[in-house]
Amino acid sequence: MSASRVQTPLITHPRFFNAVLSAFLIPAATISVAQPSLDYVTGKALFEKQWVFAPASTGASDGLGPYFNARSCNQCHPGGGRGDADVSLTLHINDPVYGEQLQKFTRPGVPAEADASVTWSDPRLTGALRSASVAITDLHYGPLASNDMSLRIAPSLAGLGVLESIPESVLEQLEDPDDVDGDGISGRLPRLLDGRIGRFGWKASQPDLREQAGRALSLDLGLGNPVRTSVHGDCTPAQVDCLASPGGAGGNGLEVSEQVLDLLLTYIRDLPAPVPADVTAESIQRGAGLFAGIGCTGCHVPGLEVDGSILAAYTDLLLHDMGPGLADSLAEGAAAGYEWRTPPLWGLDRTTGGYLHDGRARNLQEAILWHDGEAAPARQAYLDLNGAERGDVITFLDGL
Ligand code: HEC
Ligand code: HEC
Repeated sequence: MSASRVQTPLITHPRFFNAVLSAFLIPAATISVAQPSLDYVTGKALFEKQWVFAPASTGASDGLGPYFNARSCNQCHPGGGRGDADVSLTLHINDPVYGEQLQKFTRPGVPAEADASVTWSDPRLTGALRSASVAITDLHYGPLASNDMSLRIAPSLAGLGVLESIPESVLEQLEDPDDVDGDGISGRLPRLLDGRIGRFGWKASQPDLREQAGRALSLDLGLGNPVRTSVHGDCTPAQVDCLASPGGAGGNGLEVSEQVLDLLLTYIRDLPAPVPADVTAESIQRGAGLFAGIGCTGCHVPGLEVDGSILAAYTDLLLHDMGPGLADSLAEGAAAGYEWRTPPLWGLDRTTGGYLHDGRARNLQEAILWHDGEAAPARQAYLDLNGAERGDVITFLDGL
C-alpha cells in the first residue's frame, strides 16, 4: 500500500469489519486525508487524455490505433469507476489472425476488423434474467478460427492498489481447490504459466497493474508501451493493412514511455477504495449478518489481513466455477470458461453499467440470482430468505 493516499474524489479509510465472527460492523476507524501528489494529478490527466492518430502536430499524444476501442482510459473507466455498457464492453478472443480482442474502431484508411453487435434478450418476453448475444459480421480477414469469445465490461479501478498489495501467502491460505473443508466452495489461485499469480481482469489473467495497464494501452487504445511494445497494438502479422499504418512519435520508439506508464500507475494505485455507508445503521448490520449466514462470505471474504489492518474488500481473489449460465467459451490466463475471479464488492452503488462480467445484471438481486456452480447453495439460501431479509442484504451491499 502506498504511504500517502489522496482525496479525489473519495477519502481513504482502512476499513475494519468483523462480520464473520460477530456480524457486527465497526465504523471506519482512521481517516487519513492527504493532498494528491503531483504524480497522481499528472497520472489522472494521462488517464483522461484523448489520444489522436499519428502523425499529429502534438507528438506526445499521437499513436492511437490502428485498431482501438476508445480514445482514453477514462472513456471506459469514467472517473476511475465502472464503465457504461455502450462504451466499455469489449470482446475478448484468442485468434491467430484477429489477435486478443475484436476492436470496435479503426483509423481512417485501415478497414475495420469486423462489425460486432451485442443484443440483450428481453426478460419481459422470456420471463428470465437477461443475457447478451454477440453477432459478428463483415470479418475483413475471413472467418474466426473459433467461436470462443468473452464479453467484458470495464470494472471500477477504485482500491486496486490495495488488492495488488495483498501478500500471496494470504491468498494461498484461502485456496481450497479440492474442497477439503467440505463447504462446496473450491476456489483456486490463478497460477499463470510463468508461475505468477493472476489478480486483475474478470478472469484474473493479469498478475499486476503494470501488465494490466500495458495490455489496456495496447489492446484498447492501440498504443505501444514498455509492456507491449508494438505501435500497432493488437494487429497480427496477417493484418497487413493495419501493420502498414504509421506509429506515433512518443518516447523511445514507443508511443507511451516508461515515465508515462509509471504516472498512469501512480494514479490507479492511489485511487482510494470506496468509503462504506453508515455501518452502524440497523438494516446494514442485519444485512451483514445475513450475508455471512447464507454463505456469501465463502468467496466474498469480509476481512483479509493486509499490513496489520483488516481489509474489507469482500473478495478472495480466487477463481470459482460459477456454473453454465455465467460461463463463456474462452479460457484465459489460468481460468477456464466457467471460472471467474471473485470481484471485490465495494462501491457497488456507484455502478452504472450493470453488474457481473458483462454487465448483464441490472440490479444487485439479478447479480445474486445468476450465481450458480460453487455459489448455488448461497443463491438458494438467499432465495429462502423472506422479502425483508433479502432487502437487508441488498441494503448492506449497496452501502459497501
Ligand atoms: C474499451 C474500454 C476500455 C478502455 C479504453 C480501458 N479499459 Fe481497462 N478494462 C476494460 C475491461 C473490459 C476490463 C476487464 C478486462 C478483463 O476482464 O480482462 C478492464 C480492466 C482494467 C483493469 C483491471 C480491473 C480489475 O478489477 O481487475 C485495469 C487496472 C484497467 N482496466 C486499467 C485501464 C487503463 C490504465 C486504461 C487506459 C490505458 C484502460 N483500462 C482502458 C475496458 C477498458
Ligand atoms: C463460490 C463463490 C461465490 C459465492 C459463494 C458468492 N459469490 Fe458473488 N460473485 C462471485 C463471482 C466469481 C462473481 C463474478 C461472476 C461474474 O461476473 O460472472 C460474483 C459476483 C457478485 C456480484 C456482482 C459484483 C460486480 O462487481 O458486478 C455481487 C453483487 C455478488 N457476487 C454478491 C454475492 C452475494 C450476495 C452472495 C451470497 C448470496 C454471493 N455473491 C456469493 C463468487 C461468489
